[in-house]
Amino acid sequence: MNRRDAVKLMGAGGLGLYLASRLSSAKALNSILSGNDLTKEMFGKDFKWGTATAAYQIEGAYNIDGKGESIWDRFTANPKHVKTRENGNVACDFYHLYKTDLRLMKEMNFGCFRFSTAWARILPEGIGKVNQNGLDFYHHMIDFCLELGIEPWLTLYHWDLPQALQDKGGWVNRDVISWFNEYTDVVTCSLGGKVKNWMVLNEPVSFIGGGYLGGIHPPGHINLKEGIAASHHAVLCQAEGARVIRANVPGANIGTTFSCAHIDPKNTRHMHEKAAAKLDALSNRLFIEPALGMGYPTDVLPFFKKVEKYMKDGDEQKMKFDFDFIGLQNYTRFVARFALIPPVIWGNIVPAKKVTKEVLNEMGWEIYPKGIYEILKQFSKYPIKTFILTENGVAVKDKVEDGKVHDARRTQFFKDYLAYVLKAKNEGINVNGYFVWSLMDNFEWAEGYRPKLGLVAVDFKTQQRIIKDSGLWFKEFLK
Ligand code: GCO
Repeated sequence: MNRRDAVKLMGAGGLGLYLASRLSSAKALNSILSGNDLTKEMFGKDFKWGTATAAYQIEGAYNIDGKGESIWDRFTANPKHVKTRENGNVACDFYHLYKTDLRLMKEMNFGCFRFSTAWARILPEGIGKVNQNGLDFYHHMIDFCLELGIEPWLTLYHWDLPQALQDKGGWVNRDVISWFNEYTDVVTCSLGGKVKNWMVLNEPVSFIGGGYLGGIHPPGHINLKEGIAASHHAVLCQAEGARVIRANVPGANIGTTFSCAHIDPKNTRHMHEKAAAKLDALSNRLFIEPALGMGYPTDVLPFFKKVEKYMKDGDEQKMKFDFDFIGLQNYTRFVARFALIPPVIWGNIVPAKKVTKEVLNEMGWEIYPKGIYEILKQFSKYPIKTFILTENGVAVKDKVEDGKVHDARRTQFFKDYLAYVLKAKNEGINVNGYFVWSLMDNFEWAEGYRPKLGLVAVDFKTQQRIIKDSGLWFKEFLK
């Protein structure tokens, strides 16, 4: 298992669950449209087509114009924390090159841009003094989006907590709720006139799992107690932040995002099915169900009952919010099996390479197009108004040859996944948007720059960009 697998896995919450994989797409696709026959019209004229990014992964400019230190700046300052010993100090230098990148997006005919604001760029100490330069950057960037006719989709928290707040306990400290409200208030008051689409958190299961259970994301702890407290505070921030947006931005379209993966048991033996149910509760249910007023899935996850220690009167109510949309982020599926170790959930993930012949080169994830359909089906059982697929993409090895990048495997991935999105839509699931992860190659957290998920290749030495064949495919498809 590589470290990025572990993120999703720890993201999945299990101490020691192992990442999974897939079955070949060709057979499963027989009954549905071939990707080659897809047209954008089939998805409807209101369907949102976008690309997704995150501040720390693309912006660079980590210490200029008054930006404060984030937990990712601190974490990557120790090169041992990143497989390739790299960091996001410069990344794609989007801070300076955003016009180039947004023009490329426009060229590929995407209409929506998902990005996150860096909390420490706006409030260098996390709370208190506002850095006007930071807000100005987002104003200029958003203005340019609007000039190009691109709709901005803003995520408030994509994992880069200000270090000053980490020093006060970070997500484990219940005060994070008021810190987050303050930040949300500043951002919405400043940008709310220009931005209508908001997402509160990006994948709480991943930043808490990676940060407090797997130790592979900042703050790099392995501590179940902290993980449970941090989870509860994230659930509260998710709803409280949404309420701040609602109060400050008239007509806002408010969502939050979850990583999710369809889960199959290794076989139909009861113990494997039970392991699959636990993994499902950890990776797919833990953060959404409290928002829907269903509480935590402690029936399947008894260890999580400890959360009661951190619950205060009225929390059940505060965890709820009536989101306008739910952002789902899907890449792979898991196959679960019973295992005595680790004891936390009595379950384990079968490594992807044992499940399928086709394992992705760079992250070891199974390509499993049907999974996006299965997960939409699963989530459609909840009372959710609209789904937006806020991330989907693939890391494949690619290289620049004569100024071109022939990433046919990536294009095929999009065709196969989109065919299943359409199937779900045609069966009545209200899925109304699809964002590619990612606009461009970027800093893939603890994996460094090696896994490439972009539609645009970035040469990190020269900051030159080249639209890959997959990006050109979208250009044609979205024309
Ligand atoms: C996540 C994040 C993205 C990743 C992407 C590819 O899901 O981990 O939202 O920041 O880069 O998912 O791994």
